[in-house]
Amino acid sequence: MYVSKNLDVNAEGHLTIGGLDTVSLAKEYGTPLYVMDEDLIREHCRSFKESIDRYYGGAGLACYASKAFSCKAIYKIMNEEGMGVDVVSGGELYTALKAGFPMDRVCFHGNNKTDDELALALENNVGRIVVDNIFELERLNEMAEKQGRTAKIMFRIKPGIDAHTHNFVRTGQIDSKVGFALETGEAFEAVKKAIALPHIELVGLHCHIGSQILDIDPFECAAEVMLHFIGKIKKELGYEIRDLNLGGGFGIKYTEGDNPVPYDSYMEKVSEKVKAVCAEEDIRLPYILIEPGRSIAAPAGITLYTVGGIKHIPNIRTYVSIDGGMCDNPRYILYQSEYEAVVANRAAEPRTESVTIAGKCCETGDLIGEGMPVQKIEVGDTLAILATGAYNYSMSSNYNRIPKPPVVMIKDGQSRVVVKRETLDDIIRNDVD
Ligand code: LLP
Repeated sequence: MYVSKNLDVNAEGHLTIGGLDTVSLAKEYGTPLYVMDEDLIREHCRSFKESIDRYYGGAGLACYASKAFSCKAIYKIMNEEGMGVDVVSGGELYTALKAGFPMDRVCFHGNNKTDDELALALENNVGRIVVDNIFELERLNEMAEKQGRTAKIMFRIKPGIDAHTHNFVRTGQIDSKVGFALETGEAFEAVKKAIALPHIELVGLHCHIGSQILDIDPFECAAEVMLHFIGKIKKELGYEIRDLNLGGGFGIKYTEGDNPVPYDSYMEKVSEKVKAVCAEEDIRLPYILIEPGRSIAAPAGITLYTVGGIKHIPNIRTYVSIDGGMCDNPRYILYQSEYEAVVANRAAEPRTESVTIAGKCCETGDLIGEGMPVQKIEVGDTLAILATGAYNYSMSSNYNRIPKPPVVMIKDGQSRVVVKRETLDDIIRNDVD
């Protein structure tokens, strides 16, 4: 009935997630509150894994892009599901380490990794360091030499595909801060150099073409470009690239207007393309990695708030003020992202009102959405924003010194805290008198 399949309405007319009453969860844990459905997260992981098995003979790995939602609990879940993970900072890498995540299944990204971050990755034998630029390549080679190791790397390539939500363009786009350009010859030179470096083992190539992409064509197109490049490397340098990482970006349903393709058909179509181009180029089938972030975490999460005030401005709009906002969900102020809102304690009723949901920060633009359809809404109601499991907690801030909400995870009808609510003392913990 609502955008994510784990949401329902119970006999009292309350919104449920993973079978649990959201109004009761809000009472038990307080608001604002992030709630994540672990069962749905696991189901998403399995559907990616199964599609690799079904369409690509299992010769691949789905790596959860943990920038979408990172905390120790999620790396434990990913480990149990046999997933890999993508990390993009020392902080994410450290969290994964502390959660006992196997480092050989980690892809370490970033366009400007510090020496400390690279050292952490090397010391812990990260399986794939995704090198962004030539300076990093040289630095990594020196650092690996000092540590008496060989760094396993992939190169981040700009395939020249610029994917947007509803379409894509082949731009030959070299204006991006990340990765090596193909068309200037920069990527090819980097490959040559890496092959010659003694403490570098070039295991693969990587690309990522965008996020919240709702169709498959751009992914097929990117795979094709990358495989032609792998063919050129084999032909001209006699070097065989083992892994091809096609990144993430699979779109999800935020509102009724979004129609993402099933993840299953992604692997089906991309596998066909990969096999065809490999045959054409006479190269062996690469081990395929994909990096879904949003599609694993977003539909599994909601945020619960309490309505604190309502202002009807005649002929203009109605503001509904909640006890959170841009601190816990900066996606509207950043990207005007659309969400669905539900009055959790009146979830069975039709959404007859249209409101602007306002956060509590001292900032006019601090909104969760404008013209949002909701049920009849009153002060004291519990308001749920749907599909907030990705890029909400992970992008949260302490602006206005507002403590971050906790994250509650639901599994088999039981709830537990996986990230504690910040306290006022957490807010001042690094302040020096
Ligand atoms: N791999 C790489 C190299 C990436 O840069 C990203 C996302 C992903 C995988 C995962 O993409 P996903 O499957 O989650 O779309 N803060 C923005 C999203 C930024 C995505 C950045 N990179 C948002 O809130 O929409």
